[in-house]
Amino acid sequence: MNAAIRAVVRSGIGRGCSVFGVQHGFDGLLDADYREMDSATVGNIISAGGTILRSARSERFLQPEYRKDAAERMRASRLDGLIIIGGDGSIAGGEDFAREQAVPVIAIPASIDNDIPMTDASIGFQTAVNTALDAIDKVRDTAYSHDRVFVIEVMGRRNGFIAVEAGLAGGAEAILIPELPFNLGEVCDRLLAGQTRGKRSSIIVTAEGAARALDVCEFISRQTGHEARYLVLGHMQRGGKPSAYDRVLATQFGAAAVRRLAEGAGAEMVCIQGGRIGSVPLDAVRAAKREIDSEKLILAEVMSQ
Ligand code: F6P
Repeated sequence: MNAAIRAVVRSGIGRGCSVFGVQHGFDGLLDADYREMDSATVGNIISAGGTILRSARSERFLQPEYRKDAAERMRASRLDGLIIIGGDGSIAGGEDFAREQAVPVIAIPASIDNDIPMTDASIGFQTAVNTALDAIDKVRDTAYSHDRVFVIEVMGRRNGFIAVEAGLAGGAEAILIPELPFNLGEVCDRLLAGQTRGKRSSIIVTAEGAARALDVCEFISRQTGHEARYLVLGHMQRGGKPSAYDRVLATQFGAAAVRRLAEGAGAEMVCIQGGRIGSVPLDAVRAAKREIDSEKLILAEVMSQ
């Protein structure tokens, strides 16, 4: 997100605009907690994870009367448009705000979950996958040395994009995701079949919304008699140095968001589709759903033979 903030500030200034940074997401908009940013305020942030502006899940912004207040405050402060950086909640709030209050809003898709539709990628996802993969690779060393089954829980309350990507890249024997039904008994059968072929260690990746690692671990130990261990990666997946890909994408998104505001766009999300940066209507994004690529799950299963 910092690379996106930097790009918005510097592109905006480059176009002769004044750019204000809003603290704590929509809450900062409601409390008029914003201040002007110059080029120096975004110096040295490109390599830092998180957001220098801080973030919050705003309960108040869910209510129309608060959104009206926020728009009035913006007008009083002579702010002409809003660029938001975030996931599905931010996009929904931004779309409501633009539609009801006629404030121009451009969204930049940012979510480690990568569940935002109509864009091939959201900022943060690739970095989160690399973090999960690094953990899987390290666990593989000890799983192999000690002949163990390891269950690794990654983030994803409602979807399994991180699990699928990190699981496929990490050579997982099974990947459990919330979108598709799974049978732990069958997973155990596969582990046992692997054992008879000489496989002595295995890795299972589960998205937090599919099954908790501890439960899967206990089930496997009980059913197979194989010594299993588990690891919950948690919020470490949301921090750390952003990958080169994420920094470049965030920079492109930030610049594109400023350009669309300057061109007079009303309610859009910047996106990348087939390698090209563009923008799509916010209401269409909100109505759409991003589907998991089940081919990747099939591929992971074939690779685990
Ligand atoms: O939406 C991003 C996400 O990181 C999910 O993958 C995760 O389940 C959730 O946020 C955690 O939210 P919180 O930090 O509020 O516990």
